[in-house]
Amino acid sequence: MPKLLVARAMFPDVLAQLSNFFELELNQEDRIFSQSELAERLQGKFGMICTSSAKVDQDLLSKLSGVKIISTIAVGYDNFDLHACTQHGVMATNSPDVLNETTADFAWALMMATARRVTEAEHFLRAGLWTKWSVDFFVGADLHGSCLGILGMGRIGQAIARRASGFGMEVIYHNRSQLSEEKELAAHHARYVDKQTLLRHADHLILALPYSPEVHHIIGAIELAQMKPSATLINIARGGIVDDAALIQALRNGQIAGAGLDVFENEPRFHADFLGLKNVVLTPHIASATERTRRAMVNRAVKNVISAVRGELPPDLLNPEVLEI
Ligand code: DGY
Repeated sequence: MPKLLVARAMFPDVLAQLSNFFELELNQEDRIFSQSELAERLQGKFGMICTSSAKVDQDLLSKLSGVKIISTIAVGYDNFDLHACTQHGVMATNSPDVLNETTADFAWALMMATARRVTEAEHFLRAGLWTKWSVDFFVGADLHGSCLGILGMGRIGQAIARRASGFGMEVIYHNRSQLSEEKELAAHHARYVDKQTLLRHADHLILALPYSPEVHHIIGAIELAQMKPSATLINIARGGIVDDAALIQALRNGQIAGAGLDVFENEPRFHADFLGLKNVVLTPHIASATERTRRAMVNRAVKNVISAVRGELPPDLLNPEVLEI
């Protein structure tokens, strides 16, 4: 039987399914492997199911032979060097689509919590500081009737935009390319604007673009300075898109009102100064974390490796060029 590395802890019933096709090497204690351990464990394997914590780059791939597929349980695949995968004859797959709505829900949860200062108010209450009600008590910003800006209008961005209809929000967006008229209509009449207009006009700005070196620190000191002092910034995309040090400065200086962050540069470590700020809502990369959606993501990753071992085309193949090699 071909061998498969399941690099992260996995639901037992999924392992039972996989064991019909593969001899499995497991990591049920869910350790994060170093690059050298990953290379060692991948020796002699047909493939691997992993998450964003596994860096699959030229260096790793050059130490392997015979690996046919690397399947990540994530829509984002910035941890894969696709070109190197192709060069080494490795199929790379992700788990798109099934998390769009859940991730959009969470973007809204973060936006609402940030705008209405939910975390800050709860900390205040828990600290036993609540002695009276006052007219300016934890006043925040409205969502209804405000302008929602979205940077990155892929499937998740569009799902976020659709939800704005219930709040009577105007939606503006910036993206590599403008959506079709039909898609804009479906995304609550989203209006395409340039990046500067997006920054200047949004009352709440949500980042929903994939990470690549080209968008590293696309939100930095210059961009933050263009936002409204009353604005909030929400990042459910990837760490590295925002310059976290610049964001901390902007939050300290009142250049923007607040930030809701699910992702961080160098996570799971993050800039310690975030902890000293009241105007942030911080969560540990959980935007797609519902039971149903995580199951669906895992199922997609499993389908990809099973298709590969059957000699079929994995449905979420990211580097189809590899088939020509
Ligand atoms: C994704 O699917 O990309 C999530 O961010 C989890 O990594």
